[in-house]
Amino acid sequence: MKIFHHINDLQTALNKHRQDGKTIGFVPTMGNLHDGHLSLVNIAKAHADIVVVSIFVNPTQFGVDEDFDSYPRTLDADCEKLQSVQADMVFAPSIDEMYPTYPPHVQVLSGEISKMLCGKTRPMHFDGVGLVVGKLFNIVRPDVAVFGKKDYQQLAIIRRLNDELNFGIKIIGGEIVRNKDGLALSSRNGYLNDDELTTAPIIQKTLQKIKADMIKSDINQYPTIVQKYHDELTNMGLNVDYLELYNDKLEPVKDTDKKLVVLTAVYVGKARLLDNIEIDLS
Ligand code: PAJ
Repeated sequence: MKIFHHINDLQTALNKHRQDGKTIGFVPTMGNLHDGHLSLVNIAKAHADIVVVSIFVNPTQFGVDEDFDSYPRTLDADCEKLQSVQADMVFAPSIDEMYPTYPPHVQVLSGEISKMLCGKTRPMHFDGVGLVVGKLFNIVRPDVAVFGKKDYQQLAIIRRLNDELNFGIKIIGGEIVRNKDGLALSSRNGYLNDDELTTAPIIQKTLQKIKADMIKSDINQYPTIVQKYHDELTNMGLNVDYLELYNDKLEPVKDTDKKLVVLTAVYVGKARLLDNIEIDLS
């Protein structure tokens, strides 16, 4: 496995593989890797000859009061994990390498899809994600890129970015990897204490109850079901940022929609935890 810190070196190596007819798979991350990230590497390996993983804590997607400075940076441990799943290349650039002028002059502004859900509490977040992922797509020029469904809104925005800016990359959504209690793995779970770790799995359990109720009900009952479980979480003392239902493109649900998703962000202690559940009515 080779580790690159500079764009030119990475591109020279990638060009050689392209000349040999190899396809390139790409998994962008911010490091502090866990089994969720590694599952994406495995998916990329199944769809491409050479797999590149980027590790870059991207400043443009963090708000001023957010955890950019304290976000865990664990490059050596990350590289060991990537070696164990046989990733081929790691791209770990510095901020200067990615953003020679900071703040950057160019912005990638996404529309309504970036203003809803997480976009309400993190107004600049998805513009920063769109910018860095757009830059990384241009640097790596992958055939396939893999993103986790854990960040469902991010995945939906990246699909739009890929379509509307004509990147022509095959975007794959990887299933959410969870711990044995059902809590979605997240770098931010490290912020949870023991009590909070016991509470957090309630989020996924509640989403499963919503799914079970919806499958038994008619579409016009869905808002009542969502409200019922929103109240249930709140009554347990949890601060629910949002609990909302959309179709799989994050549009309001129509009668004809078969693929739905319930998305939530819940504060457990200091950590804001994301989770979602897909519902297939077909
Ligand atoms: P990061 O939070 O490091 O996540 C990198 C990728 O891992 C994302 O696609 C995310 O959805 C996926 N992931 C995280 N936890 C997962 C889990 N439990 N199961 C499956 N996949 C999981 O998302 C980002 O970084 C950044 O916003 C990035 C796209 C790299 C742009 O900076």
